Amino acid sequence: MPETVLVTGGAGFIGSHTCVELLDHGYEVVVVDNHVNSSPEALDRVAKVAGRPLAAVHRVDVRDRKALSEVFAAHPVDAVIHFAARKAVGESVALPVEYYDTNVGGTCTLLSVMHEHGVHRLVFSSSCSVYGDADTAPLTEQSPVAPTNPYARTKLTGESILQDVCAHLADMKVLALRYFNPVGAHPSGLLGEDPRGVPNNLMPYVAQVAVGRREQLSVFGDDYPTPDGTGVRDYIHVVDVAEGHRVALEHLDDRPGMRVFNLGTGAGTSVLQLVAAFGEVSGRPVPYRIVGRRAGDVAELVADASAVADAWGWTTTRDLTAMCRDAWRFQERNPDGYFAGSPGTGAPQTGESPCD
Ligand code: UD1
Repeated sequence: MPETVLVTGGAGFIGSHTCVELLDHGYEVVVVDNHVNSSPEALDRVAKVAGRPLAAVHRVDVRDRKALSEVFAAHPVDAVIHFAARKAVGESVALPVEYYDTNVGGTCTLLSVMHEHGVHRLVFSSSCSVYGDADTAPLTEQSPVAPTNPYARTKLTGESILQDVCAHLADMKVLALRYFNPVGAHPSGLLGEDPRGVPNNLMPYVAQVAVGRREQLSVFGDDYPTPDGTGVRDYIHVVDVAEGHRVALEHLDDRPGMRVFNLGTGAGTSVLQLVAAFGEVSGRPVPYRIVGRRAGDVAELVADASAVADAWGWTTTRDLTAMCRDAWRFQERNPDGYFAGSPGTGAPQTGESPCD
């Protein structure tokens, strides 16, 4: 019998790529998504890319205990991957209650419904932002955590809740994955990142400048203590992130309890290096201007990626060129994202709350 995996937030950027990876490896996949910041179109494309259908798609909010319980009752769920969350750092400062409600409240509801249905295996979507303004690089899982915004605190709170649950329930198995900066797209050009409104993050902004949807990139600061003065991040190809989740599932049963792993490449890339790489790959130089630092930004966030390599014998394989090439292919083929038919504007402007 193939394993059935329930994926919350399965229509989102990382969720949709993970669904493809799971279908490609023989899993039955049940998606729960409220589409507050994702398109059902992404799930049609998941099936197209994988060449087989999802077992089911439920338009359900993870905070809706009754509806979520009905989903668990309808499927033989073996494990859960929990992506559904709000993830815009700036927005989390303005809407802290909404962030705690969705990210922390949603996780609690999910955990209690899992318990009710005897499901004890979970992969949890966490974030490198839990490290905050770290002054060590690269960051290991033992580096001190010091989240600097409500979004990051919701992720750290989620980890703490899971620690407590694992301490109490002997058969609970949880892997929390702290992603660094997921970028890129599926090489088919059918799946990618489709942020609503003005992108907050670097790669989608660069891609929209290259395709002519936006005039120029603003580089937030060139006076950081980094080689070229611009911020350094550990960009990781979204297909590597998806693969990491599939490999995590295979290692959930290694031992009971909670374990935390970084999901990064270990390589740092500056804003200007990414801009140059994207211009080269796309053949479209990306115009930019240097502006002041963005509030809350840090100079450098790079993973020590050795723990997953040691534990699972797995490492990322896709480099910056592949990240830019695949992001560009998706942007070129889907200039208005998944919402074709609304020329020039992309997604309906219903708010800025990109979800994992
Ligand atoms: C942020 C969050 C992270 C979240 C991720 C994806 C923090 C500390 N981290 O990462 O938790 O998972 O977004 O949502 O808040 N930049 C520009 N111009 C732009 C956009 C970005 O110069 O228009 C620069 C930034 O200053 C930074 C780098 O590009 O140096 C990467 O920024 P971004 O893609 O927004 O990701 P993070 O801020 O690292």
